[in-house]
Amino acid sequence: MKEEPSGGPYSFMDIASKEAEGYALAHTSPLSALLEEVEAFTLTSTAYPGMLTGRVEGRFLRLMAQLSGARQIVDIGTFTGYSALAMAEVLPEDGRLITIEHNPEHAKIAQGFFKRSPSSGRITLRQGDALETLRTLPDGKTDLVFIDADKQNYAAYYQESMRILREGGLILADNALWYGRVFDPKDDDSRAVAAFNDMVNSDTRAEKLFLTVRDGIYVIRKRTGA
Ligand SMILES: C[S@@+](CC[C@H](N)C(=O)[O-])C[C@H]1O[C@@H](n2cnc3c(N)ncnc32)[C@H](O)[C@@H]1O
Repeated sequence: MKEEPSGGPYSFMDIASKEAEGYALAHTSPLSALLEEVEAFTLTSTAYPGMLTGRVEGRFLRLMAQLSGARQIVDIGTFTGYSALAMAEVLPEDGRLITIEHNPEHAKIAQGFFKRSPSSGRITLRQGDALETLRTLPDGKTDLVFIDADKQNYAAYYQESMRILREGGLILADNALWYGRVFDPKDDDSRAVAAFNDMVNSDTRAEKLFLTVRDGIYVIRKRTGA
């Protein structure tokens, strides 16, 4: 979810109050015992626990995967495997999820958790650069893409995601508010996310819904005929 701040002394804004976030958490069902374990491990044993999506967003991703009937999912930015597992757990038997991670340490941790999941056979971790990996995937075969890696490449991830998505497929882009920094972008990551949001907004191939959940989730549907 939250990556470490880079490029300048700019503050991070909490979009909802701590009270509202806590209330939302308390009124959202937990995920599997394994996901609870991934969360506990990430919070206590990794350098950047703020990158974890967590229960509320995990539940949202899972619901989107279920409601859309997704069979082919691509998860960009594995970290410790939370978003990948949250969505893979609701894939049908013949469903597949590809998750992409370039950091070998993160990939190793995630693989350890994937191995223990009943959904392990449906998950493929591709270790490497996300953009290069996306370019190897075929046109029009993916049902859902979750974008949650480096902000500088969000626009490129979007273009590749539109290519690999089937008509009616979904893109969910995390950190679309970038902790409020998109309102007055002053550093490279903030400018990249703001430019991404504007690019999506003007793309006639897409239907858009901008949610202020957590740090902002841009929900994008590829139009039929696009
Ligand atoms: C915010 S974390 C992902 C959080 C994860 N989706 C979750 O649910 O907890 C972003 C991850 O993307 C990875 N990443 C950043 N840039 C990347 C790139 N160019 N290619 C592949 N992975 C990248 C980082 O190493 C990090 O593990």
